[in-house]
Amino acid sequence: MDLRGRSFLTLKDFTPQEIVYLIDLAAEYKDKKKKGIPHDTLRGKNIALIFEKTSTRTRCSFEVAAHDLGMGTTYLDPSGSQIGKKESIADTARVLGRMFEGIEYRGFEQAIVEELAKYAGVPVWNGLTNEYHPTQMLADMLTIREHFGHLEGIKLTYMGDARYNMGNSLMIACAKLGMHFTACTSKDYFPNAALVAECEEYAKQSGATITLTEDVDTGTKNADVIYTDVWVSMGEPEEVWAERIEKLSPYKVTKAVMENAGKQSIFLHCLPAFHDLKTKIGKEQGEKYHFTELEVTDEVFESNQSLVFDEAENRMHTIKAVIAATLK
Ligand code: CP
Ligand code: NVA
Repeated sequence: MDLRGRSFLTLKDFTPQEIVYLIDLAAEYKDKKKKGIPHDTLRGKNIALIFEKTSTRTRCSFEVAAHDLGMGTTYLDPSGSQIGKKESIADTARVLGRMFEGIEYRGFEQAIVEELAKYAGVPVWNGLTNEYHPTQMLADMLTIREHFGHLEGIKLTYMGDARYNMGNSLMIACAKLGMHFTACTSKDYFPNAALVAECEEYAKQSGATITLTEDVDTGTKNADVIYTDVWVSMGEPEEVWAERIEKLSPYKVTKAVMENAGKQSIFLHCLPAFHDLKTKIGKEQGEKYHFTELEVTDEVFESNQSLVFDEAENRMHTIKAVIAATLK
């Protein structure tokens, strides 16, 4: 398998074999890290990390992964560079491509990261756009595989806003890897029809299935993985909160949902999560809309079925695999 020189923008661009290769490589790096075996094979190389939206996991994963591999990193924060204000993406790409061996980008439209990759001349990695979050997928798939021992045939139900980066990316990942994907949400939040059609094509090859349902009982019955994400994503306006709470409240992950899924089920969330009021935004919105927990109850989040911190750790191991596999 040779992925050198490839950008990592969406899993749509990768075959199931290539995706599994990256998960396998991540598992190898995880093992090395746990055993204290050095793997700083990329000494002398440098990567740029562009963040037009905030981050804890993705930024730290890229930085720790790069340092473990012996590389240098430069972080460009949401306000501290010329990007998008005084300098176009195409010009930025050509400048950074002369200095760095790879570029991570987190921001708004997918078209921006595609443009960056077109002009950079070095691999570009999507650290989250409005449409996709592909590095998160590798971490999620590694976590699921570690727990169940396999991916094919696993039933994953996504509850919440299924037409944004997480819902889209999970549907693609499941369709490519032979898993059964269900979006269980209000029909206003179903993934868009064109992407569903594309995923149906992947599913024909892999044996996956795709189900869209508004019914919580059937949508979560016997699911192996119950997955959710925040109801309001980064960059969305304040006005959407009221509608999201109204439409998505029936799709909160509760103990009843986990019991309906069954004892074998696990809970995943890309994080950060509003499972209590211990955050500034959670507290403000909670007071305004009278809730104490949003997309998932604190009970489920803190339960033994919740593997969210294994999942968060796996961001680092999988991002390390992406960097190492794609650098020229
Ligand atoms: N899951 C995720 O991408 O987290 P951050 O926003 O903290 O990077
Ligand atoms: N849908 C969320 C994912 C955060 C990792 C967002 O875009 O804010």
